[in-house]
Amino acid sequence: MKTFVTGGSGVVGRAVIQHLVAEGFEVVALARSPEAAETVSALGADAASGDLDDFGKLVESMRGAELVFHIAGLNALCLRDPTPLYRVNVDGTRTVLRAAAAARVRRVVHTSSAVTIGEPRGTFATEDTPHRGWFLSHYEHSKFDAEQVALGERLGVEVVAVNPSSVQGPGRATGTGRLFLAALQGKLPFVPNTRFSIVDIDDCARGHLLAATHGTPGQRYLLSGFTVTTREAFRLLETAASLPVKARRLPKPLLKMAGRAGDLLPGAQRPFCTEMARVIGFGHAYDGSRAVRELGLTYRPAEATIRRTVDWFRSEGLLPDSI
Ligand SMILES: NC(=O)c1ccc[n+]([C@@H]2O[C@H](COP(=O)([O-])OP(=O)(O)OC[C@H]3O[C@@H](n4cnc5c(N)ncnc54)[C@H](OP(=O)(O)O)[C@@H]3O)[C@@H](O)[C@H]2O)c1
Repeated sequence: MKTFVTGGSGVVGRAVIQHLVAEGFEVVALARSPEAAETVSALGADAASGDLDDFGKLVESMRGAELVFHIAGLNALCLRDPTPLYRVNVDGTRTVLRAAAAARVRRVVHTSSAVTIGEPRGTFATEDTPHRGWFLSHYEHSKFDAEQVALGERLGVEVVAVNPSSVQGPGRATGTGRLFLAALQGKLPFVPNTRFSIVDIDDCARGHLLAATHGTPGQRYLLSGFTVTTREAFRLLETAASLPVKARRLPKPLLKMAGRAGDLLPGAQRPFCTEMARVIGFGHAYDGSRAVRELGLTYRPAEATIRRTVDWFRSEGLLPDSI
């Protein structure tokens, strides 16, 4: 069966392509640069050059595909100008869906995000948790709007959303992975006490494929394997890496002040800012059990994901051997 994938050169997309190819699907993947084309080709997909705003090219590339995985997105905080988040995530999703309808695709699996739940503080959120009514970041806002577009457009295409929490495992040294790496490298003197949910990259990819075969149209599925506090994550890292993690607790008021200081830094994307401080301080906890019950997904234990992540850091030369 032919499938069309957007975002195939990214962290999540690469893993989804690997699984699709392993399952025997013919994969055509959107690539907006020669580097992206090389990446998806090396994974066994046929590259289709184009961008998310290229409706004609999308329709042409999707023709004959029964399934589309719309994974492409902009995942960024602290942008001075947030317009690209809305252009890529919201407008891009609308264009992909319209192209899928024009190409008579049966089903689109839309990669949303757990952040679209917008749970109130302290909640262990499910797909049905009521939204708190405001957004922590422009990224969160843009992914919320994108999901509304994906599940709201009535174009005769089945749409199923998957909502990963922080994706971790081999291949990712950004996001939560950056925090883990800095902690293990001893470059994180202070850390706020917070909690976050993680899904193994491999479980995330399998969740995408299961949503394609077992998902109910119009439904969203959180993909989230486990939730840890910062302290618990660091204990897991220490055990997996046999390296000490020594970070002192950063009180919330200081986190807020660091965010304000970051706002003053120059550049189109600052390394830290109020938005990021808000996201980190708020914390997240998601319940990914609907995907288990309804899609048949299984999750790796936290220890296994952290170990795989650490092993990958080492294989990339990012970490010293144990001491
Ligand atoms: N990583 C996570 O923890 C996480 C968690 C929840 C949800 N998600 C969602 O998962 C999706 C993928 O995230 P990721 O972590 O894999 O991100 P990533 O590694 O940054 O990859 C993003 C992908 O989107 C493509 N892309 C971006 N803008 C595009 C455009 N205008 N036209 C065509 N392609 C474009 C990129 O292509 P290039 O290679 O050419 O840049 C790349 O293939 C996103 O929708 C994100 O919101 C991610």
